[in-house]
Amino acid sequence: MAVFQPGDACLLFDRKERRYLIELIPGADFHNHQGVLPHDDIIGAEEGTTLDTSLGRKLIALRPRLADFALKMPRGAAVVYPKDVGAILVWADIRPGDTVVEAGTGSGALTMALARAVGENGKVISFEVREDHAELAAKRIRGFFGETPPQVDLRVGPVEDGLADLTPDRIVLDLPEPWHSVGAAATNLAPGGIFCCYLPTVPQVQEVRERLDRSGAFLDVMTFEVMMREWTIGGRSVRPNHRMIGHTGFITVARKRQPAGDKKVDVG
Ligand SMILES: C[S@@+](CC[C@H](N)C(=O)[O-])C[C@H]1O[C@@H](n2cnc3c(N)ncnc32)[C@H](O)[C@@H]1O
Repeated sequence: MAVFQPGDACLLFDRKERRYLIELIPGADFHNHQGVLPHDDIIGAEEGTTLDTSLGRKLIALRPRLADFALKMPRGAAVVYPKDVGAILVWADIRPGDTVVEAGTGSGALTMALARAVGENGKVISFEVREDHAELAAKRIRGFFGETPPQVDLRVGPVEDGLADLTPDRIVLDLPEPWHSVGAAATNLAPGGIFCCYLPTVPQVQEVRERLDRSGAFLDVMTFEVMMREWTIGGRSVRPNHRMIGHTGFITVARKRQPAGDKKVDVG
């Protein structure tokens, strides 16, 4: 990839591997207790370059991974945690060229991952009811990609209304009441398409599972959670970290059957 350009996102690592996310602005400075580093010293440098602050401390400049960016970016709505993003992409089987309807856009973290997965021949139509969230997400998406990727279509409004006119390959929902979209998903999802939702609590999962079941339009319905445990590797201390992210959300995926009946059909 090219050297750092004005407007790029940059992750600075100090010697203790603490990390600082900045947007490169000509003439601006990064400063903290370790001294001052002009952004102009980073602009034009290659990734991985070590730079000196005004106090002689070393900082290493890298481009943030999407996971780094999502966790570090200032945000309004809570993001889908990176461990769950990976599982959503795989189990909702997001493919290059797919049309995905997403909601709510929130802070845009999942939108960015979906945009990468569908590529420029696909489409991510993302709905957000809150204008302030939609605006912030648009800014964050530009901050990560440099510009809004052509496959990203951000819309303000409830996904339930938007879905009526769309026939997506995949529907991915991170909002409190995804069951309101089950009827539209049953009608409008492409044959074999996938409905996926991300929910923090058990009663929400029960509700959406019941609605999916009652619709008679889905099979291969699965709910799971993802646990990721990082390890400490240092000398003789080789062990799991004391702390981990205990709970984020439950992922539910369901496949559209054809034809979708009014009543549950025993496919087993
Ligand atoms: C947890 S956040 C989504 C975070 C997002 N997935 C991310 O990774 O950045 C949930 C968002 O859904 C929005 N929302 C709630 N109900 C909605 C609906 N019916 N249609 C569209 N957006 C909705 C909320 O305003 C909120 O911004």
